[in-house]
Amino acid sequence: MLSFLPWIGVVLLLGRSNGQPHPIAIPSPKANTAVVPKDFHSFSIEFAFFPDYAGNKSHPNRFTKNLLQNFKDITGVYPLVRVGGTSQDHSDYFPDQEENIKLIYEHPDDDQPIQINYGPTFFESYHTLGPIKFLHGLNMNQNRSMEQLQDAAAEACTAIGPQLHLFELGNEWNFVPGEYRAGNYSMLDYAQEWNHKSSIVKAAVQNACPGPFPGFMAPSFVLLTFVDTKGWTAEGLYHLGYDQKNLTKELSFHKQSKTSHNCVRDTALTQPENLMNHTKIVENLSYQIKRSENLAYLGHPFTLGEMNSIAGQGRTGETNVFGDALWMVDFSLWAAAHNIKRLHLHQGLNYRYASWQPILSKGEAPATKPPYYGQVMVAAALGDSEHVRVMNIPLKEDTEAAYAIYDAESPGKIVAGSSLQGVSVQGSGHHRHIRVERLIAPGSDSTTNVTFGGVSYDYELKHGKPVTVNHEKEVLEVRDGVVSVEIPASSAVLLSFS
Ligand SMILES: *[C@@H]1O[C@H](CO)[C@@H](O)[C@H](O)[C@H]1NC(C)=O
Ligand SMILES: *[C@@H]1O[C@H](CO)[C@@H](O)[C@H](O)[C@H]1NC(C)=O
Ligand SMILES: *[C@@H]1O[C@H](CO)[C@@H](O)[C@H](O)[C@H]1NC(C)=O
Ligand SMILES: *[C@@H]1O[C@H](CO)[C@@H](O)[C@H](O)[C@H]1NC(C)=O
Ligand SMILES: *[C@@H]1O[C@H](CO)[C@@H](O)[C@H](O)[C@H]1NC(C)=O
Ligand SMILES: *[C@@H]1O[C@H](CO)[C@@H](O)[C@H](O)[C@H]1NC(C)=O
Ligand SMILES: *[C@@H]1O[C@H](CO)[C@@H](O)[C@H](O)[C@H]1NC(C)=O
Repeated sequence: MLSFLPWIGVVLLLGRSNGQPHPIAIPSPKANTAVVPKDFHSFSIEFAFFPDYAGNKSHPNRFTKNLLQNFKDITGVYPLVRVGGTSQDHSDYFPDQEENIKLIYEHPDDDQPIQINYGPTFFESYHTLGPIKFLHGLNMNQNRSMEQLQDAAAEACTAIGPQLHLFELGNEWNFVPGEYRAGNYSMLDYAQEWNHKSSIVKAAVQNACPGPFPGFMAPSFVLLTFVDTKGWTAEGLYHLGYDQKNLTKELSFHKQSKTSHNCVRDTALTQPENLMNHTKIVENLSYQIKRSENLAYLGHPFTLGEMNSIAGQGRTGETNVFGDALWMVDFSLWAAAHNIKRLHLHQGLNYRYASWQPILSKGEAPATKPPYYGQVMVAAALGDSEHVRVMNIPLKEDTEAAYAIYDAESPGKIVAGSSLQGVSVQGSGHHRHIRVERLIAPGSDSTTNVTFGGVSYDYELKHGKPVTVNHEKEVLEVRDGVVSVEIPASSAVLLSFS
């Protein structure tokens, strides 16, 4: 029953808690298996809510700072933060405005304001979180004057300074025909408008901030099989002369459908299992992976510049519960295994899929949410190595997923999770000790009491700093070449070999 593969070092044996474990060979990385960047797990924050997340000079948001710092402590680098989203194309810069930001809502309960006016003090929020680098969103929609775009770009490069990683010009413009532009606005019109406005941005930035131009993340389209894209394709866009001057540094696509200004208050759905389906994750990412291959000739890294689990800011009972954390781990590692270079998990105040609520708003107190713990597990699995590669371990069930994390020729870590039934994993090989860190909560529908490796990052404890709440260290000894780990239903483990 036990098969031993000495050239791999570890073999996974997976079985229902009560059934016979069966051996599963762990695939080795191939020559073209890409190295995963250390800032793989990054963030996107809705433009309108960035001051709520980051605070400002006099009132910095230390909770957000702590939560971002945790990634640096685990991976050795800070995550990147993209400031943008739908509200970016409704945000106008006014050099004379004293207030940092003015949000104008159509209906007070809407998820997002319809108009955002910001002034120079908005940029204080870029200096409250430590040495984070930003991708800053510019409004491509506003057409009153090019001066406003120039001013906004010049102020951004001046005020953000060396912490500016890239610009982004326009968000999800494949939805624009019939919305910000006429119904017959074509992909060629878009390519020409972007080319024109990106040159304006570049000139304004080079004037205000001499030195190399940072470049853009683009085109920030949402192209998904279940969204009517009206013939707009990423491949087609580049055949129309889009970005002829090659100002793009990173490709960005979004993985969620259009966000709406109208708040949809979902009734609680108690089926977090819907998210925790490996087959669905594979299906959902297959189009992005194909697109990244089709566009590889452009020579830019392929990122998901705004993404999260379910469109429309998430759904209560599905994306604000522990099941979402398990989805996060599986989704992220599948993406990492397929050459997607970065994930920007989208955040906004009171969003149902947010990793944290940064301030008290609409009766919701600051809190670390379950998805954050999934992100921490991914960061811990990838660790602080420069050479990490991820291989999926193919399993039969939709409800199970496992990955091997390679830092060298043999896997140093295994991530395995199960959403419905408990399974047991046995490792065999020459390793002597295995450290077990669990991503766990009272249930898949839990909104609180989530931990990873016995550590809580909850607001109530130390404002997002790590606090060990379960001191039991799980270290297993390999006996006769075998070690066995139980994975309770709706939980995941990170096994680290030494
Ligand atoms: C800084 O944030 C505080 C708290 O939200 C707010 O009262 C203050 O007006 C902000 N300062 C500026 C310059 O916007
Ligand atoms: C906005 O400006 C661009 C660039 O000048 C132009 O191509 C486009 O037609 C304008 N759109 C509208 C709706 O005014
Ligand atoms: C697009 O529609 C606008 C009015 O909505 C019209 O003025 C314009 O001529 C149309 N352009 C083309 C190329 O059909
Ligand atoms: C998982 O998703 C796949 C594809 O959508 C579906 O065929 C399958 O029934 C789902 N499995 C479960 C356990 O829900
Ligand atoms: C995943 O893809 C399926 C179709 O394959 C679609 O029905 C579903 O809405 C997608 N889910 C997400 C979260 O993107
Ligand atoms: C565009 O720039 C990227 C680097 O950002 C480079 O890899 C690529 O080869 C360039 N493409 C062309 C056509 O010069
Ligand atoms: C969460 O943990 C707290 C503190 O340990 C405990 O009092 C509470 O009962 C737990 N809640 C759940 C739902 O397990």
